[in-house]
Amino acid sequence: MDPHALPAAPLSRRAFVEAAGLAAAGLASSADRAVARPLSPSPPAGPADDVARDEGFWQRVAAQYRVSPVVTNLENGYWGVMAHPVLEAYKAHIDRVNVEGVYYIRTAYVRDLEAARARVASALGADVSEVAFTRGATEAMQVLIGGYNRLGPGDAVMYADLDYPGMQYAMNWLASRRGVRVARFAIPEPATKDSILDAYAAALAANPDVRMMLVTHCSHKTGLVFPVADIVALARVRGVDVLVDAAHSWGQIELSVGTLGADFVGFTLQKWIAGPVGLGAVYIRKSRLAAIDPMMGDEDHPAESVLSRVHSGTVNFAAALTAPAALDFHERLGPANKAARLRYLRDRWVAAVRGIPGVDILTPDERGLAAGITSFRLNGGTTSEHNQRIVETLRDRYGLFTARRTGVSRGDCVRVTPAVYNSVADVDRLAAAIRELARA
Ligand SMILES: Cc1ncc(COP(=O)(O)O)c(C=O)c1O
Repeated sequence: MDPHALPAAPLSRRAFVEAAGLAAAGLASSADRAVARPLSPSPPAGPADDVARDEGFWQRVAAQYRVSPVVTNLENGYWGVMAHPVLEAYKAHIDRVNVEGVYYIRTAYVRDLEAARARVASALGADVSEVAFTRGATEAMQVLIGGYNRLGPGDAVMYADLDYPGMQYAMNWLASRRGVRVARFAIPEPATKDSILDAYAAALAANPDVRMMLVTHCSHKTGLVFPVADIVALARVRGVDVLVDAAHSWGQIELSVGTLGADFVGFTLQKWIAGPVGLGAVYIRKSRLAAIDPMMGDEDHPAESVLSRVHSGTVNFAAALTAPAALDFHERLGPANKAARLRYLRDRWVAAVRGIPGVDILTPDERGLAAGITSFRLNGGTTSEHNQRIVETLRDRYGLFTARRTGVSRGDCVRVTPAVYNSVADVDRLAAAIRELARA
């Protein structure tokens, strides 16, 4: 059931809460109070690259997170831990939804959800009519890939080895769903901006039947950041639409839909915006809405509304309501400061190990091509077993948690993903461990 489709009930929320005897307990306003709490510490004035090195400031930021000391988490790419004020807002929203129940969902929630959606749209530099909530980037990209209706027999679609597996599956499925050919190619390793653009240009030239292409802004496998705006421009000249998977870029890299230049983008708020798990968003440029089918023939909304493109059923109400608190925290920290800090932590451990015999850093240092995530291989090992052993050794011998990644055409690797709560000591310990393992 989609709450957007429901009419407001006549009884006010206050009247309902008072009738339920809950007002004295103050539960009805707890969510609002939580959202109004002071958020992250104010960053010092100055260029982001200087703020990135201000350890006193980042210690105050780290104090806003409660993370287990059992292991040092350098695997923040799966999802992002919520900062304390965001977690408190989330708990307050869960509480309110539970206390006020369906009455709230069928009345004030509709307005609150719309305000949250408008907040997300404005943070992305989009119009609210271009953004709908999803349950994550997977659902957002499935809406785009599955709904893209400009394909027919004789056409082709294309993706690269570094794209996310779930999106690759959806692209492969288009062969049976739309009767198209599916083309694939590998991103050069090591990559430069020029070699990436050359690879896309060559793949488009070799596959002139391609009408639609998947591009990932920041690869979850190697952390490579793709020059999306340039790739979109390259494709546009050939009449090729680009669907951008921005799951790993929003919040890790400063961006807006304007800087991406794409008409179709999938986002998640559970990674680098560090909102609750199970929250994402899809962007469809207003002038291109007709290229995406309404979801499963949705009839709750007019076809001119972006809301008709997502039909998730009953969702985690509290998660969507927490989006403004997560964005408040993120924006107060400063997207540029956050990006610079993540890059600083990444550059620090990479600089300490790059060039050591046996250490192969997959992610280039070139400005614009890396953010916080970087992957490496040790002693030429490209098998899953070899890389899994390194992940387990880092965890069991050094107390450092990383992740093995597979699906890179040259072989598996180990991914390192610090967050803003990680310290320079954490990444220095990683560098020392890699140095020892490369000698072993
Ligand atoms: C590049 C990329 N796209 C999409 C996703 C899926 O995102 P979600 O978990 O929000 O569905 C991920 C998750 O790791 C990812 O790394």
